[in-house]
Amino acid sequence: MNYLDQIILGDCVSVMSEMPNDSMAACITDPPYNYEFIGRKWDNKEINRRLERIKDSKTLVKNIPYGSGLAGGVRNARWYERNQENTIEYTNWCKQWGRELFRVCKHGAPVAVFNSTRTAAHIQVALEDVGFYTRDILVYRRHSGIPKGLNLNSKLEKMNHPDAEKWDGWHTCFRNEWESIVLVQKPLLNNYWETLQETGVGVFKTINEDGSFQSNIFEGYYNKSEKKIRTLYCQATGVDKKLILTLVPKSKENIVLDPFAGSGTT
Ligand SMILES: C[S@@+](CC[C@H](N)C(=O)[O-])C[C@H]1O[C@@H](n2cnc3c(N)ncnc32)[C@H](O)[C@@H]1O
Repeated sequence: MNYLDQIILGDCVSVMSEMPNDSMAACITDPPYNYEFIGRKWDNKEINRRLERIKDSKTLVKNIPYGSGLAGGVRNARWYERNQENTIEYTNWCKQWGRELFRVCKHGAPVAVFNSTRTAAHIQVALEDVGFYTRDILVYRRHSGIPKGLNLNSKLEKMNHPDAEKWDGWHTCFRNEWESIVLVQKPLLNNYWETLQETGVGVFKTINEDGSFQSNIFEGYYNKSEKKIRTLYCQATGVDKKLILTLVPKSKENIVLDPFAGSGTT
């Protein structure tokens, strides 16, 4: 099968298992973020159980998507215990697709994986475990939405608590303004030049059109005409294109793989 410009429907682990060794020049992808929604927890039964549990609630909880990890609950020891299990399960799953990805990548192939700032470490460790080595954590800086934690002052005001004013300005999280991109690489054949000659990849285009040297912060790809699609996925802002141009030398031989293509924004 020719994998160039193909969209293949299926579980990426089994689809990649059909692909030849050392055939992909790079991978730029955005897997699920482990907000409690992979594997067995990602089924209708569990979703319905949770919806049933909150059906009489008058709060906004109902409007928060299942699996976001934000739908209420206190971050206490009991919550963390369950969360830890989920993290281990997620890391193991990342190793499953990571192993196939490693096999299909050419030596020197860069792999850039979008993930939340809270979960990127799990992806990084899983990909290191299957053979890649870490190059960087790139920052995709974007304009962000509202902080999603608890405003202590508002909470106390609602309780008519006398300390409400004292806690004005205190919150339980930061406003998230960047998305992490874990950048790993499949080991070189011998050195950069030999790898480049043999596989066509391994080095990055770091001088920008304006002459600046590309830093590990990627930003400023907002395009008005993409506004609609931008509401779906941040990569639609053009950061994917920039990553491809930076990480992959232009050549008909170089195929970029996205195992989690989803609705196809990339
Ligand atoms: C964070 S989204 C990526 C969105 C993507 N960039 C797009 O434009 O739709 C992750 C995607 O991975 C898909 N996915 C989850 N598990 C998968 C698997 N085992 N194989 C292939 N795709 C999977 C989900 O359906 C979801 O569309």
